Amino acid sequence: SRTVGRGADGVVTVSGLDVNRLAEEFGTPAYILDEDDFRARCRAWHEAFGGEADVFYAGKAFLSRAVVRWLNEEGLNLDVCSGGELATALDAGMPAERIALHGNNKSTEEIERAIREGVGRIVLDSFQEIVRVAHIADRLGVRQRVQIRVTVGVEAHTHEFIATAHEDQKFGIALAGGEAAEAVRRVLKLDGLELMGIHSHIGSQIFDMAGFEVSARRVVQLLTEVRDEHGVELPEIDLGGGLGIAYTSEDDPREPSEIAKSLAEIVTRECAAAGLSVPRISVEPGRAIVGPSAFTLYEVGTIKPLQGLRTYVSVDGGMSDNIRTALYDAEYSVALVSRSSDAEPMLARVVGKHCESGDIVVRDAFLPADVAPGDLIAVPATGAYCRSMANNYNHALRPPVVAVRDGAARVIVRRETEEDLLRLDVG
Ligand code: LLP
Repeated sequence: SRTVGRGADGVVTVSGLDVNRLAEEFGTPAYILDEDDFRARCRAWHEAFGGEADVFYAGKAFLSRAVVRWLNEEGLNLDVCSGGELATALDAGMPAERIALHGNNKSTEEIERAIREGVGRIVLDSFQEIVRVAHIADRLGVRQRVQIRVTVGVEAHTHEFIATAHEDQKFGIALAGGEAAEAVRRVLKLDGLELMGIHSHIGSQIFDMAGFEVSARRVVQLLTEVRDEHGVELPEIDLGGGLGIAYTSEDDPREPSEIAKSLAEIVTRECAAAGLSVPRISVEPGRAIVGPSAFTLYEVGTIKPLQGLRTYVSVDGGMSDNIRTALYDAEYSVALVSRSSDAEPMLARVVGKHCESGDIVVRDAFLPADVAPGDLIAVPATGAYCRSMANNYNHALRPPVVAVRDGAARVIVRRETEEDLLRLDVG
C-alpha cells in the first residue's frame, strides 16, 4: 500500500504505525488494511472514466461494514453475489439501487430479498433464472431492472479456475449459437423484467488488454443485433472486473485509467460504426481496488533448514488465511518487517501451521538468513480473496482486519475466538 515505509531503525511502518506495535496490540496473524489506499483506488476508478461510467466494487474480494461505508462515501456501487453479501451491504447502508446481484445459482430467497429491497440490477445468468426472476418480480408487483450475463468465448490468460468467459464453465449464457440473442428475446417478452443491458466478465488477475477488447466488441455486436431485431437500443453494458494486480515484482499491472480509456474508445468506435448511441458502461473491479491495500502480518515460528534445498519458515497462519497459493499456485512476496537485517539472503518457503504439506503461503522467497522465531514477516497484496476466502481448517481462528489511517489503527473485523467456533457447534 502507499503508506508503507521503513523507519531509521529498520522497522516497517504503515500509515506511520510501527508493525511491532500493531502486532502487540492486535496480535498475529492480522490483515492490515490501509484505508487511504483503498479510498484512493476507489477514486482512481471513478475518475478513470471521467465520471462517465459506474464502478461496482466486487464485494467478493473483501466486504465488511466499514468497506461498504467507504464505498458509499467514495460514490462507488457494489456488486454482491450472495444473500450474505447483500445483507452486509444493506446493513451498512448501501442504497439498494446502487447494488447489483450476481450469481449462477441465486436462491429464491436471495432473489426475493433483492427485489423487495429494490436492488438496482439483477444480472441474469441462465434461461431458468430469467423465468424465476420474472416470476418473483410479478408476484411482488415489481418491474425489475436486469442485465443478461453473456460468455463471449474469450480465453483469458489466467488460471483455469478464475477464467470465466470460455464456453465450458458454469457462468452466463453463450453468445455462440445464438443463445444470448434468444435470452434477450425471452427477457423482452416478460413484463416483470426491464432489460437494461448486457454483462460480460471474462476472468480475474488479467494483464493482457486484448481479452477485454474482444469482450467489449462482442457485447456491442450483440447490442447491434438486438437493435436490428427488436428496434430496442439497450442503454447499458457491463464489462466486469478482472484487472490484475502486482503480487510480485514480476507483475506489471495496467492502471484503471488505461483500461477505462481503451474500453471507452472501443465501445464508442464500435457503436459509431453500428449507428448505436453509446451505452453507459459499468465495470466491477474487486482485486484491483482492495488487493494492494492490505498485507498480512505473521509471526515466524519454527524454522527448518533442509540441506541443499531450502529453509522452511513457518508462520502462525497459512492456508486458512490465504488459500490462494494452494488453490491457484498464486505467487506472493514476503519481507522481514520487525527489524533490519544485514544477513545474506536465504532461499525460503513460507509455510503455515496446518496439517497439510500444500499449506504454503509463499512458495519461493528470499529472507535474511538470520530470520528467527518471534520475527514478524509481512506478505503484501493480500487485501483481495484472502480474508474473504478464509476458513477454519484445523479449527483455525480467522484473523482480524485492522484498518489504518492517519496514524491510527482500528479493528474493522475482529479476530475469531474459540467461543465463536464453539457457538456453532450445538451437538
Ligand atoms: N464481476 C464478476 C461477475 C465476477 O465474477 C468477479 C470475480 C468480479 C467482478 C471481480 O473480479 P476481480 O476484479 O476481483 O478480478 N478467488 C479468486 C478470484 C475469483 C474471482 C471471481 N469473480 C482469486 O483469489 O484469485
